[in-house]
Amino acid sequence: MARLKLRINGDDTEVEARETALLLDVLREGLEMTGTKRGCETSHCGACTVLLDGIAVHSCVVLAARCEGKEITTVEGLSRDGELNELQRLFLKHGALQCGYCTPGMLMASTALLRRNPRPTLEEIKVGLDGNLCRCTGYTGIFEAIQACAARAK
Ligand code: FES
Ligand code: FES
Repeated sequence: MARLKLRINGDDTEVEARETALLLDVLREGLEMTGTKRGCETSHCGACTVLLDGIAVHSCVVLAARCEGKEITTVEGLSRDGELNELQRLFLKHGALQCGYCTPGMLMASTALLRRNPRPTLEEIKVGLDGNLCRCTGYTGIFEAIQACAARAK
């Protein structure tokens, strides 16, 4: 076991974990941060997406020990003082979820996309989310929510 020092959503955190522990396991089991979802565990579905220094990664295939010294952002880090951020509110407004299982990953991948490209085209949105699967919504609401967020970008 090792004691990992991680910076998550702006807070410094220490957690005991195996040297080979994956970031997804440390978040969900070690820290009980269950917003990040466990899906395929093979880097295919995107349910486990978090940001690592602002880049969207699949936490099911990232060693937690490799994340020391980096800024980890999970879906829990999007809201502030219990208030959803603009992208989260637009997901609700546009009905961008049904079961919601993919939603944390969709939000994190969208957040990364909008940070590097605040006004993406529909094609760019599709490419930005090509690592994230949704089995319920048909994607239309998700794309509309991201387009609405982009339209508000200055
Ligand atoms: S659980 Fe990580 S990509 Fe599916
Ligand atoms: S809303 Fe159910 S998987 Fe996307």
